[in-house]
Amino acid sequence: MELMNSGKRQLLSKIASSDEHGENSPYFDGWKAYDNDPFHPTQNPHGVIQMGLAENQLPVDLIEEWIKKNPSASICTTEGLHAFKSTALYQDYHGLPEFRHAVAKLMAKSRGGRVSFDPDRIVMAGGGEMLMFCLADPGDGFLIPSPYYAAFDRDLGWRPRVRLLPVTCHSSNNFQITLEALEAAYQSARKANINVKGLILANPSNPLGTTLDTSTLRTLVTFINHKQIHLVCDEIYAATVFRGPSFLSVSEIIQEMECNRDLIHIVCSLSKDMGLPGFRVGIVYSYNDTVVNLGRKMSSFGLVSSQTQHLLASMLSDEEFVERFLSESARRLASRHDSFTKGLDQVGIKCLKSNAGLFCWMDLRHLLKEPTFEGEMGLWKVIISDVKLNVSPGSSFHCHEPGWFRVCFANMDDETVEVALRRIRVFVGKYKEVEVQVKKSWQRNLRLSFPTLMYDENMASSPRMMSPQSPLVRART
Ligand SMILES: Cc1ncc(COP(=O)(O)O)c(C=O)c1O
Repeated sequence: MELMNSGKRQLLSKIASSDEHGENSPYFDGWKAYDNDPFHPTQNPHGVIQMGLAENQLPVDLIEEWIKKNPSASICTTEGLHAFKSTALYQDYHGLPEFRHAVAKLMAKSRGGRVSFDPDRIVMAGGGEMLMFCLADPGDGFLIPSPYYAAFDRDLGWRPRVRLLPVTCHSSNNFQITLEALEAAYQSARKANINVKGLILANPSNPLGTTLDTSTLRTLVTFINHKQIHLVCDEIYAATVFRGPSFLSVSEIIQEMECNRDLIHIVCSLSKDMGLPGFRVGIVYSYNDTVVNLGRKMSSFGLVSSQTQHLLASMLSDEEFVERFLSESARRLASRHDSFTKGLDQVGIKCLKSNAGLFCWMDLRHLLKEPTFEGEMGLWKVIISDVKLNVSPGSSFHCHEPGWFRVCFANMDDETVEVALRRIRVFVGKYKEVEVQVKKSWQRNLRLSFPTLMYDENMASSPRMMSPQSPLVRART
């Protein structure tokens, strides 16, 4: 990149070649570490296990089974070929009507059937980015409760160039959003002359795996109404709620309270709810007519392919299948969540209580060498290089308290989860041994520093210093 921009003239655009895509973070470094040495049960059993990817692989077999039973849904089978021509020719960027109807129904179903959605308000897009282009100019600010999804910096900051203004949440109240924190973030942005355009909420939350309750949602809707700013609700984990209280969408709240609906926008997708991130089905549902119209024009740059729409329209119109899929997917997520957190609990690792999502928010504060972000990075490097698990440090989610880590549990099979838990068990066991040794040393008044653990599953009990040439390589852009 440097070479291409060297010399007198900048050959490439500043926006494309700048570092503002935000991928220079431990969140993406962890992915690199995995890519360089991916775990495989037989071919690379000591490789890095990917626990940094919020992917829902648990219900994929249900979709495969449906596809097998419904060959006419695909335009690439003898049974479905009759729809090939009409699907392959130009489509308008409103999307196929049958697809929009099916998505509206799915949205209603995954919100408990307590609210309905108008298919004409559904805009297909890469989600948040297109909506930001409609709502904000470069430099405008959006409040966002922290910790928040690490890639929002890239998705919203890089090309739309909006500024994300963290609303600090604390572990002392389980990271709930308070009016005081919102107001403080809003006022400090105003003082800094930032034009605050809105509030972004991920509900259910990534990375917390929690859902917002009625009173918090009401407070937030009241807040944005007072300030006359937008509310963007990212509900892409709506159908991953695996335990009560049942998911409460902003769409339900605004049915029962006075509010300017022109300010309300929902983002959803099939990436997490249906485990289909590769299909790139992003949806913006706006209550604002102008945003719907503008969004539709913008969506011509990122339409969902009509082949995908055709297949999914057929699948999502099968109400019996959708019903079964949603309940079975939630059941499997609950089961995986419970077995994984139980395994962590057995070695003294607690997670924030959660009822949704594809991850846990793991509390490793007791394992930090010191309660700082340097301490967090030190521990993360050991976990990734030696324990060989790619978990994501809280700092990459803008968590303001060091020692929290997000760990994904739905992108692997049961056996891999077991290997991960076994590694964690060995690691924590060694940590405890070292702790005892250090305490003994202190008691003998020896001034020893706490050694970094070197993980080796087959090693006996004594920990070794981590090599100064840690294999962790910082990602290059
Ligand atoms: C809260 C949130 N919003 C948006 C996205 C982006 O989803 P996709 O990868 O389908 O674009 C993610 C992905 O992890 C997410 O967690």
